[in-house]
Amino acid sequence: MALDLDIRQTKALIKMQLEHTFQDIPSEFRDIQKVYINSNEDLQMLLKTINVKEGTSAFSILAGGDMPFSLVGQGIYQIATGDLNNLTPYMALGLKKAMLGKYNYQEYLQTLAKLYDSNISLETLTKIIEDLMVLMEADYQEFWQAIVKYNYDLQAYKVKPINLMYLLGRLRNSNTSLDFIHLIPYLNDEVSYEKLQNNLAKAEITFINLDVLNDYQRIKGKYDLIYLSNILDYAYVTWGNNWDYAKLKEYINNIMAHLNGNGLLLLHYIFSKHLLMNSTELFDESAVTLNDLKLEEVIAWPDNPDRLLIRQKRV
Ligand SMILES: C[S@@+](CC[C@H](N)C(=O)[O-])C[C@H]1O[C@@H](n2cnc3c(N)ncnc32)[C@H](O)[C@@H]1O
Repeated sequence: MALDLDIRQTKALIKMQLEHTFQDIPSEFRDIQKVYINSNEDLQMLLKTINVKEGTSAFSILAGGDMPFSLVGQGIYQIATGDLNNLTPYMALGLKKAMLGKYNYQEYLQTLAKLYDSNISLETLTKIIEDLMVLMEADYQEFWQAIVKYNYDLQAYKVKPINLMYLLGRLRNSNTSLDFIHLIPYLNDEVSYEKLQNNLAKAEITFINLDVLNDYQRIKGKYDLIYLSNILDYAYVTWGNNWDYAKLKEYINNIMAHLNGNGLLLLHYIFSKHLLMNSTELFDESAVTLNDLKLEEVIAWPDNPDRLLIRQKRV
């Protein structure tokens, strides 16, 4: 992480939005972008289907941290994460991890509701983050100190300041509704939440800033699960608009090199509009299941060909 640069870019992200309320983020914010603070996937269903074994290892896209935290909750202690967006570690491994360290289940949900509340006062939000800082590692602490102060100074004179979380996050709802928590395993109930809290002490979660569609060789080591959430629907950013089925197969072959024997690769939104619109190939049944890859067991997702679960050969 490049702390000074990350702080500068995050300040620019805040300022730009306060000046031009909620415009789309311009392309220069590739390194720092708004974060999906909570997952937009049904992680409960995904993890049930994958059925990961306790004590195995995983590489996951970081985003807001919900998938890595859910994995830790299930006894996966060695987790490497990556993301294009450099704001994700500050949000997930800084702010949200500190919340997990400080609050019990009810307090966590109450605080999450406040973070989602567009009417929260500047003072209340600032105090919540300041109280969490003491639980963060030094870089995260320094980051949030600088960002909270910057935001406070810019908005203190306003009658209705904009919630900082709305400036830095893509929130699931524009109100305080937490109706998604049943989709996130560690937020399901008190027992799951406390299991995550206990497991976090044993877990090692690392982060690298990378484009997983291009820089996969930077992923160190091999894992039992590689979880690439909705990445392929953004593949046009890395591969251009004309990427095709051959490119997808080449990619799968390359990323599979980072799987242990019998390990699983999970990909979503494969047949996104970009691939379908631009491909000259017809996606018949065999293409959907990628049978011609030949080197792995390919498990078509129940009822959803847009998801693929691919198992590496046993060694
Ligand atoms: C579209 S978001 C959705 C959130 C995600 N589905 C979840 O459950 O939290 C996907 C995340 O993947 C990241 N991402 C997208 N394309 C990527 C790529 N090529 N390499 C690394 N990260 C990427 C984004 O920065 C974002 O954090």
